[in-house]
Amino acid sequence: MQKFDIDPDIRVAETLPARFYTDDLLFELSKERIFARTWQATGIASKIGSVLPTTLLAGFLDEPVVFTRMNGQLRCLSNVCTHRAKIVAEEECGATGLRCRYHGRRFDLEGRFVSMPEFDEALNFPSERDNLPRIAVETFEDLVLVSLNPLAPVSEFVGEVVSATEELYRERPEFRWEREYEVNAHWALYCENYLEGFHVPFVHESLNRSIDYGTYRTETHRYSSVQIAESRDPSLTFDGRIAAYYYFVFPNLMLNYYPWGISVNVVEPIRKDLTQVRYLTFVADESKLGAGAGADLDTVELEDQAVVESVQQGIRSRYYDRGRYSPSRERGTHHFHRLIAEFMNE
Ligand code: FES
Ligand SMILES: [Fe+2]
Repeated sequence: MQKFDIDPDIRVAETLPARFYTDDLLFELSKERIFARTWQATGIASKIGSVLPTTLLAGFLDEPVVFTRMNGQLRCLSNVCTHRAKIVAEEECGATGLRCRYHGRRFDLEGRFVSMPEFDEALNFPSERDNLPRIAVETFEDLVLVSLNPLAPVSEFVGEVVSATEELYRERPEFRWEREYEVNAHWALYCENYLEGFHVPFVHESLNRSIDYGTYRTETHRYSSVQIAESRDPSLTFDGRIAAYYYFVFPNLMLNYYPWGISVNVVEPIRKDLTQVRYLTFVADESKLGAGAGADLDTVELEDQAVVESVQQGIRSRYYDRGRYSPSRERGTHHFHRLIAEFMNE
């Protein structure tokens, strides 16, 4: 595979080549190289009881997993029977163990093999391989983060977000509702649009009125970045100045902190030109809902979708391959492209 090369110096760097967004093989490769090695927001921790089966990035990674909880401890296990691969847990339930409905193999909630009929004569059985594999799982802000093959611990991905946002709210933000949007575009086009405020004055008329574009800034960390928006109206801020913190955790998690609470966006690839975005809303202060930078998220979302879908049309053009970055306004996008290159080149 031809390596991706994004110059570390944004002043001379060129953007990610168009083939990353258009090539089927690269889209396939991104599953193992990017998505299996990072942390995927897969559920709401406080909603998980004894047994909850799900599919990790359905239609993309498509990995059947089951969350279990025993004595308060959350686990994530492979949901594929170690006998002949039937899905073990089929629905959410309060069971104290797992039993495969094909030939009756039993597991405990930690995934350990318990029993199996008609295997008395089998030699070297059971072995370690008859347990359900355990999958890395962590929680953060009531989000469940799962990684099939973590390149680094979750703290390296979200550490800066945790430390910077710990004291933002008096009440702990609580999960309220979820919405889904479909975007006819490659997942990375959706992310890189999010990662720059450069387009705000051009694309988001109402949002532009509630933030002070001149003070808008981006900071980058190892696997995350944050954009900070200030407001001229102190009543719409956390501390008299800051209206929103837009955190991005590579490759597809957006955590938007507003005075009313957190809007989490999870960007899930479906096809190379189709993406689902899940909006999870956590409210900390009801009285501030509907005001400031985080007021009309639906309008902002639809404005973003329209430009991103337009880029999807353009990225396929014979006449486009790479562009250049604004050194003052596109540091977040540059950082994102550098990480994509790093993960894809391995
Ligand atoms: S596949 Fe599960 S017991 Fe046979
Ligand atoms: Fe936008």
